[in-house]
Amino acid sequence: MKVLGIETSCDETAAAVVEATGSAASGTVLSNVVLSQLDDHAPYGGVVPEIAARAHLQHLDGLVRRALEEAGTGLEDIDAIAATAGPGLIGGVMVGVMTAKAMAAVTGKPFIAVNHLEGHALTARLTDGVAFPYLLLLVSGGHCQLLAVEGVGRYRRLGTTIDDAVGEAFDKSAKLLGLGYPGGPRMEQAAGRATDPGRFELPVPMKGKPGCDFSFSGLKTAVRRHAELLGKAMTDADVADLAASFHRAVGDSLVDRCNRAMKLFRAEHPEGRALVVAGGVAANKVLRARLAELCAARRFDFVAPPLQLCTDNAAMIAWAGLERFRLGLTDPLDFAPRPRWPLDPAAKAAPFAGVKA
Ligand code: KG4
Ligand code: ZN
Repeated sequence: MKVLGIETSCDETAAAVVEATGSAASGTVLSNVVLSQLDDHAPYGGVVPEIAARAHLQHLDGLVRRALEEAGTGLEDIDAIAATAGPGLIGGVMVGVMTAKAMAAVTGKPFIAVNHLEGHALTARLTDGVAFPYLLLLVSGGHCQLLAVEGVGRYRRLGTTIDDAVGEAFDKSAKLLGLGYPGGPRMEQAAGRATDPGRFELPVPMKGKPGCDFSFSGLKTAVRRHAELLGKAMTDADVADLAASFHRAVGDSLVDRCNRAMKLFRAEHPEGRALVVAGGVAANKVLRARLAELCAARRFDFVAPPLQLCTDNAAMIAWAGLERFRLGLTDPLDFAPRPRWPLDPAAKAAPFAGVKA
């Protein structure tokens, strides 16, 4: 079984073909083509929705052709066509969804509308065949959530951010430190050059607070205060030390929140074994190491997809499509793209009744 996937919800235009491996949960990536629009958006210091939509429109058909070629397959050998149908920048999402629908209409193959977050959430099954249920830390530019993944389409949110997403905090702090865009990788590189990582005192957001929610806007404000105090005299060494302190604070906060979520998750799912990390920020090696340490201490398996499958890509969309297709979950050609599309629509309610975090 082979599925073609399309991803156009933010600033990466991507197409991929994924094949199921036997009856196991895992799969094989036959091709995974990603075109980053970084250079188009860099002058503006962030993603400009209309520029993104136009770039998707310009490049997507060529990328689909390349993905099929690199997979050594033709459209006739594809079993289903999946596209990100939300959440994300609606102009881009519409480009991907319309392309997938057009191909489905012409070939008579099924169309599958994939939630971008479900793509991130299920990647660990594609790469590592992780069994349900597992605990998921989803950390990207727009999201910061802890979820119990109980099955395909079955998610229970344990915590979310009450203000900024963690990737957003990386991007905004990088801007304040003059590191430019995209912030995450540049902050990580800067932190690697630190000589005195303990020099700056930064607050650890939410540490010790009940529940599993996150907050990152205060941390960003603290970075701004330090940057303003240093002013024009800010050196590369200052930036490196501040970036390292920022990593320490984010790491402490994620570890504190995940530790609480692990208790909740284990109480509800004693058979659950894994903490999976997903989303663009999961590409950060410093944070991965902190979470791996926590997992070792709490006897959880730590699963983190390879770096190129953490940031946005279409292999994760093809895989989520394949998982849905296997369960007979296809979508009609009048499916409307969703700019907002939570994984757990009932998330406002208490996460697990009767269990205290
Ligand atoms: O999942 P993703 O590619 O797009 C969204 O769906 O948001 O995540 C992008 C986010 C950006 O905020 C980017 O700065 C962050 O992930 N990111 C990183 C790293 N690589 C990407 N953050 C920290 N360290 C990294 N190495
Ligand atoms: Zn993403």
